[in-house]
Amino acid sequence: MKTRLRRIVSELARDPVHALTLARDRLETTLIRRQAKASLRCLPTPRPPYSSIDERIMAVHWVHRIPLPGGKVTPGDWDTGTALRRLHLPDDLSGKTVLDVGAWDGLYSFEAERRGAKRVLATDHFCWSGAGWGTRSGFDLAHELLGSKVTARDIDIPDLSPASVGIFDVVLFLGVLYHPEGAAGGSGTGRVGDRRDAGPRDAG
Ligand SMILES: C[S@@+](CC[C@H](N)C(=O)[O-])C[C@H]1O[C@@H](n2cnc3c(N)ncnc32)[C@H](O)[C@@H]1O
Repeated sequence: MKTRLRRIVSELARDPVHALTLARDRLETTLIRRQAKASLRCLPTPRPPYSSIDERIMAVHWVHRIPLPGGKVTPGDWDTGTALRRLHLPDDLSGKTVLDVGAWDGLYSFEAERRGAKRVLATDHFCWSGAGWGTRSGFDLAHELLGSKVTARDIDIPDLSPASVGIFDVVLFLGVLYHPEGAAGGSGTGRVGDRRDAGPRDAG
């Protein structure tokens, strides 16, 4: 401190105008730094894009209304509660294997799992990665939030066959048959195997 004072006094004695200009500049620099630090402290802490489950749910465009833990339901465009009731899916699917073709957000796959199915395979392509109207983000988020063990496979209907996906006790083919890009008008030979006690149903 003493050395600094001595230097300032000698600078003042040698060239007072220059010494005062230097001192003013140093002071200004110090003040600007302090102000910058203070304003940084006032800035809100950066947040990840979605900090809560609700925000993550709201960020997805849903078609299915999927019940989630904590009484939440995904805000789907379609009245899938009514569609599910009309489907008359057996209450107990214990021990069954279920294939859900064109699963999209996955409501029916998750519902089959909830009803005890021992294995559920959800497949889609058009909306998951094709030219479709949606994405797979709803399926993936619901899968995560439900802690689901449903397996997912992005596969075009013409590529479905017992050889590619296996055979299942229950095959759900809901709202798909009438799609020109789906099995009805597809150019391939899409074919799924089901066991006789629970054949394909189309609720669409
Ligand atoms: C009207 S949505 C029905 C979704 C769901 N199954 C339901 O009933 O709510 C038709 C679904 O079939 C899927 N789909 C249509 N053509 C397909 C194709 N060629 N391969 C795979 N999925 C297809 C779409 O991506 C979409 O998820």
